[in-house]
Amino acid sequence: MAVDEQPDEQPTVTMDKIASLAKRRGFVYGSSEIYGGLSGFWDYGPLGVELKDNIRRSWWRSMVQLRPDVVGLDSATMLPEVVWQASGHLENFTDPLAECTVCRRRFRADDVDNPEVCPECGGRLTQPRRFNTMFKTNVGPIEAEGTAAYLRPETAQGIFLNFKNVLQTTSQKVPFGIAQIGKSYRNEITTGNFVFRSREFEQMEMEFFVRPGTDDQWWEYWKEERLRWWVEELGINSAHLTSRNHEPSELSHYSKQTADIEYAYPFGIRELEGIADRTDYDLKAHMAGSGQDLQYFDPETGEHYVPYVIEPAAGLTRAFLVVLLDAYAEERLGPKPGDVRTVLRLKPPLAPFKVAVFPLSANKPDLVDRARRIYDSLLPHFPAAWDDIGNVGKRYRRQDEVGTPWCVTVDYQTLEDGTVTIRDRDSMQQERQAIDDLLAIFQERLGPR
Ligand code: GAP
Repeated sequence: MAVDEQPDEQPTVTMDKIASLAKRRGFVYGSSEIYGGLSGFWDYGPLGVELKDNIRRSWWRSMVQLRPDVVGLDSATMLPEVVWQASGHLENFTDPLAECTVCRRRFRADDVDNPEVCPECGGRLTQPRRFNTMFKTNVGPIEAEGTAAYLRPETAQGIFLNFKNVLQTTSQKVPFGIAQIGKSYRNEITTGNFVFRSREFEQMEMEFFVRPGTDDQWWEYWKEERLRWWVEELGINSAHLTSRNHEPSELSHYSKQTADIEYAYPFGIRELEGIADRTDYDLKAHMAGSGQDLQYFDPETGEHYVPYVIEPAAGLTRAFLVVLLDAYAEERLGPKPGDVRTVLRLKPPLAPFKVAVFPLSANKPDLVDRARRIYDSLLPHFPAAWDDIGNVGKRYRRQDEVGTPWCVTVDYQTLEDGTVTIRDRDSMQQERQAIDDLLAIFQERLGPR
C-alpha cells in the first residue's frame, strides 16, 4: 500500500478489543492471575505504567506546577476510624445492595434495570440494604478499641487533615488549592467493564479552598477548566464528553452541587470526573471531630472563617481507560482481510514510547551499530523502543498498536550520508532527516514537558 493512500477508518472500538490489546501488549494484566485473579484488581504492565505516569504528570503539571495557587500533597492511604466517623463516611459511604433470593448473587440496586428481579436468574431481589464500601483493617499487633482503620475511598480526606499544616508551612492564601494523586480503595459491590470500576484505583483530586459566597463562581470556573484539560491536554474528542449537573437525589452527603464530566464509553455514557461544591462540610466535620480550630484567618480583612471547598475529582485509572478508548482506531489499508492496522492515536506526550529505532536489517552489523548509537543517544531524553525483529512493515504495525508517534529507520543510505527516515504514526508518511537533527526535531514536536 502506498504511504500516501488515505486509509479507511473503522469505528469499531469495544471494551473487549481494548482489554485484549492491553493484555497482549503489556498495558494491563489481571491481578493475581496465576491464582485465578481477584475481581476488581489490576496490574499495570511495562507500557501501562508509562501511559499512566504520563497522564499523571499531565494532570500534575496543569493542576500544580503551572499554578501558583495550588500546592501538592501525598498523604497516607490508611486513616483511623475517628477520621471516617467525623467525615461522615462510616455513616454515609454506602451503596444499596440487593440479594437474589434464589441464586444468592448480590447486586448494586441502582445498577439493575428492574429493582425487583435478578438480572442473572430472574429470581426475586431483596429490598436494598446499605452496604459500606470502605475496606476495614486493624493497625498494630493487638486488635483493641481505637485500632480500627480504613483504606481511604477518596484521597480528599488526607487533604482536609493537612489543611492547617499547609497553611502554616506555605505562603498560600485563600483562594488556593491542595492537590493529590494516589490510590483509593472501595469494596465495590460489582466491578466490571475492565478497569472502569475497580476496587483499587487511583484518583487525581484537588481541594480548592475559597471564601464562602464565592463558591458558585469557582465551581463554574473549575467545570470549564477541567473540561478544557480533557480536550486540550489529554486529546480526548470533545464530542465524546458531556457535563451534567447532579440531581439533588444523587448528591454525596457532603455536596451542595456536583457536575459530572461524562464520557461516551462503549457500554454507555458514564462518569469520568466529578466537580463538587463540598461547602465547609469537611473542615467543619473535622473541627468537630478533632477539637482543633481549622478556621482560616484572612490577613486583609482580619476575619476568621471556615473556607468552602470546590473539588475537581478525576480517576487516573479511569482516565487511562478513556485515553485508550479514544485513541483506538482500526484502519483498512487495502482489500485483503489482513490489510487492517490497529493504531493508538495517543497525543505524543502520553505515548509510552516517543520513538522506535530500527536497523533495516538485523543481520548487518553496520546498520545495527549505527541504529544502536541513535537509540542510545535518544534514551536519556525520552523513552524509546528498539525493534529489529521481522520486516519493517511488521515493526511499524507493532509500534502503531502501542501508539509510538515516530519510527526511525537506519538503512544503507544512512551509512553514506548520515540521514535516516522518520515515519509518522498517523499519516504514515516518511521523511528523510539528518541524524544530528533528530533530537531537536522530536523535542520540538513533543513540546514543553
Ligand atoms: N473525592 C470525591 C470523590 O471521590 P467520586 O465521584 O466518588 O468522588 C471521583 O470519585 C472519581 O474517581 C470518579 O469520577 C472516577 O473517575 C473515579 N472513581 C471512583 N470510583 C472508582 C472505581 N471504583 N474505580 C475506578 N475509578 C473510580
